Amino acid sequence: MNVQKFISMKGKQPIVLITAYDAPFARIANEAGVDAILVGDSLANNVLGYTDTLPATMEDMIRHTQAVRRGAPNAFIIADMPFLSYQCSEDEAVRNAGRFLKEAGANAVKLEGGSVFAPLIKRLVDSGIPVMGHLGLTPQSVNVFGGYRVQGKDEKSAEKLLKDAKALEQAGVFSIVLEMVVEEVAQKITESVNVPTIGIGSGRFCDGQVLVLHDLLGLNPTFLPKFAKRYTNLYEISVKAIAQYVDDVRRKIFPSEEHVFKSGGN
Ligand code: KIV
Repeated sequence: MNVQKFISMKGKQPIVLITAYDAPFARIANEAGVDAILVGDSLANNVLGYTDTLPATMEDMIRHTQAVRRGAPNAFIIADMPFLSYQCSEDEAVRNAGRFLKEAGANAVKLEGGSVFAPLIKRLVDSGIPVMGHLGLTPQSVNVFGGYRVQGKDEKSAEKLLKDAKALEQAGVFSIVLEMVVEEVAQKITESVNVPTIGIGSGRFCDGQVLVLHDLLGLNPTFLPKFAKRYTNLYEISVKAIAQYVDDVRRKIFPSEEHVFKSGGN
């Protein structure tokens, strides 16, 4: 996979992305055949235990992107630019984005926001850094939205989303994530731009889909967004496995002879 191939999949074949934050799950995702792995700043809530994505830092994102690269050496990896890593100044944004390619082995970065970020995106792309856009419910702006609300419900906001998508395309993004956008609006955007749209909670007509790994695998027992699908329940499976281990140790079933080293043995 590369940026040009990614773009060429538009309209031909659904593009499948998943988030991953560490080496073992990156390896699993890659083995399962995803087209790309997104190291989302949802790292903050899914792995680091925060309630939203805002606390993710550049150092967190670099370290976890490096881990994902080690787990999936040949995967196409997109790294999320965390809150305040690109909003303060363009120079800082270019330096931070560049670190993902230079130090962490990412192939591209993703950043949230509409037309106000178009000049920055153009500069990043001109500097050799492929950029994925992110419109709709942009979680770094949760405090401005006043919650995780569906976007594009009225004509004005639908028009703004379409305008933003065109501005991002013009600025040079290779793809746009549409998060929690009403289906008809996501469809209209998908039909209006030449780069692939990747939906999350944005219906059936985007060019591809992305899901958060922890939602798909059922690793969070307390919450599942309406748009996500749980394909297994790893939380329950893991609790059962660990409870079995606890029981085995207490009943002196584990370790058994096959797990021990003996003097003079191999
Ligand atoms: O951080 C993330 O996981 C994301 C996806 C929801 C697209 O940005």
